[in-house]
Amino acid sequence: MEKIRIFDTTLRDGEQSPGASMNLDEKIRFARQLERLNVDVIEAGFPSSSPGDFESVKRISQEVRGPQIAGLSRTTPGDIDRAWEALKHARKPLLHVFIATSDIHLQYKLRKSREEVLEEAGRAVAYAKRFTEQVEFSAEDATRSDPDYLARVVEAAIDAGATIVNIPDTVGYTTPTEYAKLIAGLRQRVQNIHKAILSIHCHNDLGMAVANSLTAVENGARQVECTINGIGERAGNASLEEIVMALKTRRDFFSFEVGVVTEQIYPTSRLLSSITGILVPPNKAIVGANAFAHEAGIHQDGVLKEKLTYEIMRPESVGISQSTLVMGKHSGRHAFRERIKALGYELSEVHLNQAFQRFKEVADKKKQVFDEDLEAIIADEILRIPDLYKLVNLNVVSGTVTVPAATVQIEIAGKLYQEAGFGDGPVDAAYKTIARITKTKSHLLKFSVNAITGGTDAQGEVMVILEEGGIRVTGQGAHTDIIMAAAKAYINGLNKLEYQKRLKGV
Ligand code: KIV
Ligand code: ZN
Repeated sequence: MEKIRIFDTTLRDGEQSPGASMNLDEKIRFARQLERLNVDVIEAGFPSSSPGDFESVKRISQEVRGPQIAGLSRTTPGDIDRAWEALKHARKPLLHVFIATSDIHLQYKLRKSREEVLEEAGRAVAYAKRFTEQVEFSAEDATRSDPDYLARVVEAAIDAGATIVNIPDTVGYTTPTEYAKLIAGLRQRVQNIHKAILSIHCHNDLGMAVANSLTAVENGARQVECTINGIGERAGNASLEEIVMALKTRRDFFSFEVGVVTEQIYPTSRLLSSITGILVPPNKAIVGANAFAHEAGIHQDGVLKEKLTYEIMRPESVGISQSTLVMGKHSGRHAFRERIKALGYELSEVHLNQAFQRFKEVADKKKQVFDEDLEAIIADEILRIPDLYKLVNLNVVSGTVTVPAATVQIEIAGKLYQEAGFGDGPVDAAYKTIARITKTKSHLLKFSVNAITGGTDAQGEVMVILEEGGIRVTGQGAHTDIIMAAAKAYINGLNKLEYQKRLKGV
């Protein structure tokens, strides 16, 4: 069976989603998870777009050795030099150059003629080839380009040495039938097409990104560019989990291999939303909370009799654990270590002990501890940046006849500070008091609460987005007490802000 290459662009196109920006540590952590997911390519960023992007492409190239690492570049030599400077450390680098080919982009954005762009595409690919064998060329806005002209540009790029040619639906405009025709047409029209891998890259403006990607595969595309949870510019990109599971579940129809370790799909999806604070809608295919929930009586009855009646995929196959009880308060360190390993985390002995201690506290309060609880413990306790502020104590009173009040103790650089204050509800009282102690100038842009698992004893997961002086961060906190989770999320956000400010010398 032929293989479909999965090219993940969450860290480049996905990061262009409103509110999805990640810091360097978060990008490296996410890239490592993509490596566990076993994607073929990680597009790590656009090095000339910012010093932060340059640094993340460089560090991911140095540290993530499994998948091919791609870096995006415009067609100018300066941009290509910069992309290569960041990528040259990669074990398997892929230099990705792009230029628009539609008349709309040529006339209004590039102000160049078709002949100029044709020549520039070939020149850029040839220039990139001086650095590395693997060069991808993308014809931006391909689906709104004249197909004859597009074919000429693609042929020139392959002549110049492009090993992959990408046909993006940049504005999510095409339809499955039209895209199929375009891809099949290119395969017929472009003389040297057999010398390159045909790639596709679809945006979701009309909700057809996944359908368009799959019809392109049926018509000869062998690389699919996509993002986890479908995040990306505007309405997002084609969702990786939907494409991979469609190809796997309907192998009888598509007949292709995919290298992705599907059991890592759900952990990757959760990691991304915990880093970016962008929650997955409950009805989202594959990774939404309801994707495997059967509500209707007839369905439940059918599933109990035979899963095949209403289940086309097993939740375990995408990494959603079905065994309700994973761990309890009697579980020992060994079982804990094994479960953490199975979830894809490699923790040092110190971090393992720290996480185990927190697990015991949670297990004391909750009878059942689920995989999601363990992930939250790790995100909350281990995967955090060095703390300036440490929440030592929090006491809140609230009720129908009392004015909500909070008493907070925070340790800052080894010294203990305490304040008390009122608010419009217990969270507001806690936040106002924390803000007074830390003297933060940040604004709270978003606050959301999510129950990690079912039941009133579930851990609550709070996510906040804070902003100060153009720096935007997300903070997370998890706890069986929702007010504690809220306070932890706020403190986590404040610590991330301080960290970012220090990095930027603010
Ligand atoms: O959507 C697009 O056209 C892109 C290219 C740069 C590949 O993201
Ligand atoms: Zn794109």
